Amino acid sequence: MSPRIFVVTGANKGIGYGIVEKLASTVDGAVTYLTARDESRGKASLEKLEQSLAKNKKGEIRFHQLDIEDSNSCQKFADYLKKTHDGIDVLVNNAGFAFDNSAKESPEEQAKVTIGINYYGTKLVSSKLIPIIRSGGRVVNVCSSMGIMKDKFDQKHIEKLKNASSEKEIDDFVEEYIQAAKDNNRKEKGFPESAYRTSKAAEIALTLLHGRQYSNRGIKFYACCPGYVNTDMTNHNGHLTIQEGADTPTWLATSDDAPDGKFVYLRKPVDWY
Ligand SMILES: NC(=O)c1ccc[n+]([C@@H]2O[C@H](COP(=O)([O-])OP(=O)(O)OC[C@H]3O[C@@H](n4cnc5c(N)ncnc54)[C@H](OP(=O)(O)O)[C@@H]3O)[C@@H](O)[C@H]2O)c1
Repeated sequence: MSPRIFVVTGANKGIGYGIVEKLASTVDGAVTYLTARDESRGKASLEKLEQSLAKNKKGEIRFHQLDIEDSNSCQKFADYLKKTHDGIDVLVNNAGFAFDNSAKESPEEQAKVTIGINYYGTKLVSSKLIPIIRSGGRVVNVCSSMGIMKDKFDQKHIEKLKNASSEKEIDDFVEEYIQAAKDNNRKEKGFPESAYRTSKAAEIALTLLHGRQYSNRGIKFYACCPGYVNTDMTNHNGHLTIQEGADTPTWLATSDDAPDGKFVYLRKPVDWY
């Protein structure tokens, strides 16, 4: 039987690294791709992981370069996976970004960069890799409880995202936010200040839209929050370890009990609007 193939984005550190560690130490015979946009950081992480897991490995870990914002990088990786394995089983979209609270960049710059990675990057890499996911496969998107829209966005935005029937509608939502950040009228336009919140609401909406769009191909989609995790992104203030943070995404990537088509916080489905 051919091995199950897992791909984890942004896995050179933080929760992504924890997800690769958990998959490689629990799924028999799988091949897990630890991907990173920077080759040297990715290879160093692979080496560190190989050393720390040593004999506890149940599957194989391989490195491949992948920048989720770079169309060429995503296409090259998709072509490589198709050629090497004739497809993949699970894509974990973990790569993400948040500005520090003390960041000096303008609201427009913060909006463009954050949405560029968390929403457009996730959408781009998904567009290249979903076509090679085998029937029965999964996509797990590491979103955030910061993307829960209730009481943070105007009802008109909530209605738009919860019923989105095309990527274009979600694109319009994020573009409207970027414009409002530029015009400095986010509150009047029914948005929160935070670009991260907006990017993660869009990422949840994208995941659930894809779930509806690809159900006929037998692929399941999962949107989740890993909890508040001790990583660079949280300036190490999170109370969960990266192993604990990896638990929900890994569970969704592997368990028969995982609830798809919902937003899942620490293994429990919760309302996101
Ligand atoms: N930490 C939390 O409490 C928390 C809570 C809720 C949700 N999340 C989500 O969990 C995910 C992982 O967060 P984390 O806390 O582990 O953050 P982290 O430690 O900052 O790691 C982020 C990872 O994403 C990678 N990345 C960023 N842009 C990329 C791109 N264009 N292409 C490929 N990789 C890219 C980073 O690579 P570089 O090293 O090259 O920058 C890094 O490997 C994110 O989606 C985040 O929004 C985290």
